Amino acid sequence: MARINDNYLKLKAGYLFPEIGRRVKEFTNANPDAQVIRLGIGDVTRPLAPAVLKALHDGVDDLGRGDTFHGYGPEQGYEWLIDTIIDKSYKPLGVDLQKSEVFISDGSKCDCANILDIFDLSNKVAICDPVYPVYNDTNVMVGRTGEADDKGYYEGIVYLPCTEENNFTPDLPSEKVDIIYLCYPNNPTGTVASREELKKWVDYARANDAVIFYDAAYEAFITEDDIPHSIYEIEGAKECAIEFRSFSKTAGFTGVRCALTVVPEAVTATTAKGEKVALNKLWNRRQCTKFNGVSYPVQRAAQAVYSDEGWKQTREIIDYYMENARIIREGLSAAGITCYGGVNSPYIWLKTPEGMSSWDFFDKLLKECHVVGTPGSGFGPSGEGYFRLSAFGDRENIETAVSRIKEKWGK
Ligand code: MLT
Repeated sequence: MARINDNYLKLKAGYLFPEIGRRVKEFTNANPDAQVIRLGIGDVTRPLAPAVLKALHDGVDDLGRGDTFHGYGPEQGYEWLIDTIIDKSYKPLGVDLQKSEVFISDGSKCDCANILDIFDLSNKVAICDPVYPVYNDTNVMVGRTGEADDKGYYEGIVYLPCTEENNFTPDLPSEKVDIIYLCYPNNPTGTVASREELKKWVDYARANDAVIFYDAAYEAFITEDDIPHSIYEIEGAKECAIEFRSFSKTAGFTGVRCALTVVPEAVTATTAKGEKVALNKLWNRRQCTKFNGVSYPVQRAAQAVYSDEGWKQTREIIDYYMENARIIREGLSAAGITCYGGVNSPYIWLKTPEGMSSWDFFDKLLKECHVVGTPGSGFGPSGEGYFRLSAFGDRENIETAVSRIKEKWGK
């Protein structure tokens, strides 16, 4: 008889967002007239920028003509997209990358998971708590952990608590780790890391031969000066960090699918015999074997994000979401609810009123205000007592949600 991967049975609960969807469906089935406002999963709601949409259409048209038809593209992505990303997104930060260091993919979620293919199970992994659940769950799935304890911490993973007390910036681990996941601007807390903070991690990684997985999916939402947009702005990071970026939130591609992963040539790890190997080569080998690239029209659309017109329009959409974030943050703060994030990130991380548990608040908010958010404890035990609201909504809905919450809990 075929055998399953038993590690999947270690997973404590269903994946967070489907579980939220299930509860919301149950509620809307029972209350079909309720005007439910969804600020749970961070999913974009604004249409694609017109210049991006045009490029997508043009890309499709190209496929319909013999002279512009494209079959399989390079597994790593088309050079014209990679060149554009390097020029428009990294060079202005003072970061020089080679073409071979950038890999186009269909999503950061998949890349954050798939990157584990090239690492041995013996690596000690450090993960922030609370955290984007993909980092934790994929390590469980590949078999890097034991069972979870009562709180939900898996044996074998080093958790780095991010709480109000440490300003949501984790301390260095007390035991030596080999892989560190960092996400800034942070999902779920919406907070950012300063240059000094990131330097601390780069220095740690270099001193301990560790690799940093840096998830920068929300970098386009940074509004304050002098907050790093890329880990490679930190000296030495090109020797120890892999960076994930995405068009999902930046350009409304959650349904279109395009992302990129940077694996600098200088990042290495060792074989069982202790010989150093460049991770770039292994990731390239992995992608060539398991991935056939992102579709041609989608890559054309991604390239158009960086055209003058495309970027102006894309920025306007980002600004729209960030105005939503301001409305949520300021509205709820004025009502006496403690809020974090929402300045350099589309997420607002709030303390549940009256000390309610995260899921109790979720249920109450859904039943009494018809507003959906994400319970902080769904991101890890240190998220208990917190709640995440997403600013990816239509303005009217955002304003209505804020006034419903204020009416119920405002002081
Ligand atoms: C979130 O809500 O945390 C994100 O939308 C999930 C994702 O990007 O996969």
